[in-house]
Order: sequence, then structure tokens, then C-alpha cells
Amino acid sequence: MRIAILSRNKNLYSIRRLRQEARKLNLECDVIDPLDCQLVIDGTQNRITTHSATLPYYDAVLPRIGASITEYGLSVVKQFEIQGMFTINGSQAIADSRDKMRCLQILSEAKLLVPSTVLTRTTRGLRAAIEAVKGLPVVLKVLQGTQGVGVMLVHTPISLGSVLDTLRTLNQDVIIQQFIVEGAGRDYRAFVVGNKVVAAMMRTAAQGEFRSNIHRGAAGEMIQLPKQHEKAAIRAAKILGLQIAGVDLMESHQGPMVIEVNSSPGFEGIEKATETNIARQIMKQIKATAQARKTARNKKRSSKP
Ligand SMILES: Nc1ncnc2c1ncn2[C@@H]1O[C@H](COP(=O)(O)OP(=O)(O)O)[C@@H](O)[C@H]1O
Ligand SMILES: [Mg+2]
Repeated sequence: MRIAILSRNKNLYSIRRLRQEARKLNLECDVIDPLDCQLVIDGTQNRITTHSATLPYYDAVLPRIGASITEYGLSVVKQFEIQGMFTINGSQAIADSRDKMRCLQILSEAKLLVPSTVLTRTTRGLRAAIEAVKGLPVVLKVLQGTQGVGVMLVHTPISLGSVLDTLRTLNQDVIIQQFIVEGAGRDYRAFVVGNKVVAAMMRTAAQGEFRSNIHRGAAGEMIQLPKQHEKAAIRAAKILGLQIAGVDLMESHQGPMVIEVNSSPGFEGIEKATETNIARQIMKQIKATAQARKTARNKKRSSKP
């Protein structure tokens, strides 16, 4: 079985670990830089070329698309799909989860508990927006931020107005979100593979910080996720169509709230904090799903007259 990992950097911890585990499962594994891919649709054979060679068929493709190349990366993933290859995660699911507003819209539609959130471009409705998110302080988030960058806490209407003006001048849409005061400074990261949480950690923000991202100095420790949280994480991934997901949850008075879902979650922090072999779980999931697809396809082919 031959698989491809789409990643800009072969030397990242996650990519090194995935290749290691692929080898152990007898999977042939190529790492392809999405920005090296040229996508061709010309009315004959759709194809992807890199340095003039056409890419072969892969039984499965694992996209690890960073926020800096979302648009191009999604076109690359889509091209693999139109050529009949199996992608895990798929381009639609990655796009839906990458945009923080769209992600919360989809989760809210499915009746999952999410923080009150407003997306707005007018400055006139600011007071109504603050009310809708239960008053000041509020959290502001750029739509495609990661690792805590682009997440801000704002305490006064004056600073809210001026920060919004600045971000709009920079062509950045932002969401205004309820500050979950009772759970602040701490969150849960649930790592979902297939329909299971394979590892979970609690992250506690560094002193003087409200964002509990590991990249912002938070400390992670392994925990057994409470059942309710586990169910919410699995449902969130499922609704978005993600087979591999990092689901962030916060504790609130109403129960666990899903605050975001990552489609290319890193796992250096969580593998180390929980001593779980996540790379192996991911590769096993890919192998099993690709195998099932192959079997179904062969069956269909052989049943054709
Ligand atoms: N509504 C909120 N209330 C309180 N803290 C929040 C809220 N949203 C996010 N945070 C904190 O900020 C961190 C980063 O937010 P998140 O939405 O996960 O963005 P990122 O994609 O940058 O990780 C979270 O891990 C959490 O600690
Ligand atoms: Mg996060």
C-alpha cells in the first residue's frame, strides 16, 4: 500500500513520527510539499506534477496543511480527490474547520455547545454584539489563527472599537466571542482518530496569560477526559467530517464547550505529555480505511457485468 503525506517540512516532529510508524506497518510513504505540486486540468487526464514528473496513484493521502498555505493547500487536496484518491482528512472538512466562524456555525447547527460568537463588519452594531456575547471583556479571534496568535482579550468598548478598526484596515475579519470566565486559563485538547479519543491533555496557561496553547507557554498534562467531554469531541469531529482532529474544549457553567477543531493537529506535545503513540494510531486508521475502500471498489468492479 502506498500513501502520501502532504507537508511543507519533512523534518517536523509529526512528519518524522508518521513516517516511522508507516514503515512499521509496511506502508510505503512519500512526503510531498504541496507547494511543489502543479495541478493540471486540461480536458484530458487530470494530473499533479512535481518538477515535471507526474505523481502516481496513492491509496491514501494525508494532508498536513498549515494555516499559511490554506488556499493553495486545499486546491492540492481537492485535486487528489478529483483523481479518485482517498484523502484523510478531506478538502471540504479541512476548509470547514479552518475558518473559526464556519466551524462554530456547523457545530451549533448540530446542537453542540459552543461559546456565543458574533461575526460582524459594521461598527454600528457594536453594543448589540457585546450584549450578544454576554458583555465585556470579550475575546476577539482572527478567523484563521492558530497557536493562540490572533486571539485577544478586550476589556473596554473603546479598545474594542479601535482594535476592530485596525484589523479591518488590515483586511482581517474577526469574530467577537463570549469570554468563558469560569474556564479561563485552561482547556482540554482531545485528539480524535476515527471515532475515538486516543489521547487527551489538560493545558494550563502560563502565569499572566489567558491562552492555554502549548506554543504560548502552557503546560500540558495527561488526563482521562470526562465522558461528556469525550462525547462532545467525537461528535464535533464527526459532524465536520474529520477522521483526524484536535478538538479544543473549555469548561463552562453549561457544560463542555467546543471552542475550535484543528484538522492538522500537531502531536509532539500530546505524545510526550500522554506517552501515547498517536502516529501509530493515525497510520493504523489510514491503513484500515484505505483497505476497506479498496475492497469495496474491487467488489463493485467484479460485480459489474
Ligand atoms: N471564548 C474564550 N474564553 C476564554 N478563553 C478562550 C476563549 N477562546 C479561546 N480561549 C483561550 O485561547 C486559546 C486559543 O484559542 P483557540 O480558539 O483555540 O485559537 P487557536 O487556534 O489560536 O488555538 C484557547 O486554548 C483558550 O485557552
Ligand atoms: Mg486552539
